[in-house]
Amino acid sequence: MYVANEKRYESMQYNRCGKSGLMLPAVSLGLWHNFGDTGVYSNMEQMCFTAFDNGITHFDLANNYGPKAGSAEANFGKLLKEHFLPYRDEMIISTKAGYDMWPGPYGNFGSRKYLIASLDQSLCRMGLDYVDIFYHHRMDPETPLEETMGALEQIVHSGKALYVGLSNYDGPTLEKATKILEDRKVPFIINQNCYNILDRTVERNGLKETSHRLGKGIICFSPLAQGRLTDRYLNGIPEDSRIRTDGRFLREDHVTGEKLEGIRKLNEIAKDRGQTLAEMALAWLLHDGIITSVLIGASRPSQILDNIKATENITFTADELASIDKIVGIQG
Ligand SMILES: NC(=O)c1ccc[n+]([C@@H]2O[C@H](COP(=O)([O-])OP(=O)(O)OC[C@H]3O[C@@H](n4cnc5c(N)ncnc54)[C@H](OP(=O)(O)O)[C@@H]3O)[C@@H](O)[C@H]2O)c1
Repeated sequence: MYVANEKRYESMQYNRCGKSGLMLPAVSLGLWHNFGDTGVYSNMEQMCFTAFDNGITHFDLANNYGPKAGSAEANFGKLLKEHFLPYRDEMIISTKAGYDMWPGPYGNFGSRKYLIASLDQSLCRMGLDYVDIFYHHRMDPETPLEETMGALEQIVHSGKALYVGLSNYDGPTLEKATKILEDRKVPFIINQNCYNILDRTVERNGLKETSHRLGKGIICFSPLAQGRLTDRYLNGIPEDSRIRTDGRFLREDHVTGEKLEGIRKLNEIAKDRGQTLAEMALAWLLHDGIITSVLIGASRPSQILDNIKATENITFTADELASIDKIVGIQG
C-alpha cells in the first residue's frame, strides 16, 4: 500500500491562483501522454508517487487523453482507487471537455449538451463525485459564449466541479467570458494555455495580459515544448522519446536544422546558469511572477525530479532574458 512521503510539503512552492483562494504547486503534472492504454501501469504509479511525494498536488486530465480517448482518466481512476483516495482532499484534480470525444454532433466543442454529459463520463471513469477544476478545452466559434458559460455555471452549482477554467482562449474572448461568469458568480479562476520559450502566442493574443489584469491564474501547458526544451534531442532522436513513441504532435522536423541549433544555444545558457535546459525552461516561465503553475508531462519519474528543481533559481538577468529572446528570434 502506498504511504505518502511525510516531508512532501517541505520543498514545493505553492502559488495563489489569481485572486482566488486556491493555491497550486509551481509544478503540476499532466496526464496527456504516457497514461493511456499504451502506457505502462507500474510506470504511471511510480510517476504519480514521485509527484505527490514531492509536493505536486495538482494532476491534470481531459476527457480525450489516451490513447484511446478516456483511457488516461480510467487509469487515473484506478490509481486513485488503489492508492490516492486517502489523500483526495490533498489533491487538485482537473479535467476538460472541448475536443472530439464521441461520434455525432454532441461529442465536441462547447454546447451545454456536450459539456455536462462529458463531465459525467469523466467522473464515472475516475470514480469521483467531483473534480476540483473543470475546463472548457477550446474556444467554440459557433456556440454562443453564454451557452458554454451557462453550462460551466450549472456544473459548479450541481457540485460536480469546485472551480472552472478556460483553456486555449485568447485575450478578447477571455474578457467576454469573464464578464458572463462573474455576473453569474461562477468561480472561474484559471486559464490553461500553451506557453514556453519557443511558443509566445499568449504574449501576442492578449491572454497573458488580460488574465493577469482580471486576477485569474495561468497554468502553462507544454512548458518544455513537448521535450524540445530538454536535453532529449541535443544529440539525435532517442528511440524512447515522444517523437518515436507517439509522433502525433511532435515530429522529427521540430528538432533538426536551425531549430536544433537554437535548442543547443539555449542549452549553453542553461549550463552557464548551472541548470539543465528543462530547469531553465520552467524557471523562465515562473520568473515574472505572473504564471501560477507550469504543467509538465513526463515519461519517467526521474524527469519529474529534475523538473521540480527549476524553482530553486527563477531569477534571470536582463542579459540572459535578451539572449534567450534573440535565440528564438524575438527582438527585445
Ligand atoms: N489544454 C490543452 O489544450 C493541453 C494541450 C497539451 C497539453 N496539456 C496539458 O499539459 C501537460 C503537459 O504537456 P506536455 O506533455 O506537452 O509537456 P512538456 O512538459 O512540454 O513535455 C513533456 C515531455 O518532455 C519530456 N521531458 C519532460 N521532462 C524532461 C526532462 N527533465 N528531461 C528530458 N525530457 C523531459 C518527456 O518526453 P519523452 O516522452 O520524450 O521522455 C515528456 O513526456 C499535458 O499532460 C496536459 O495535462 C493541455
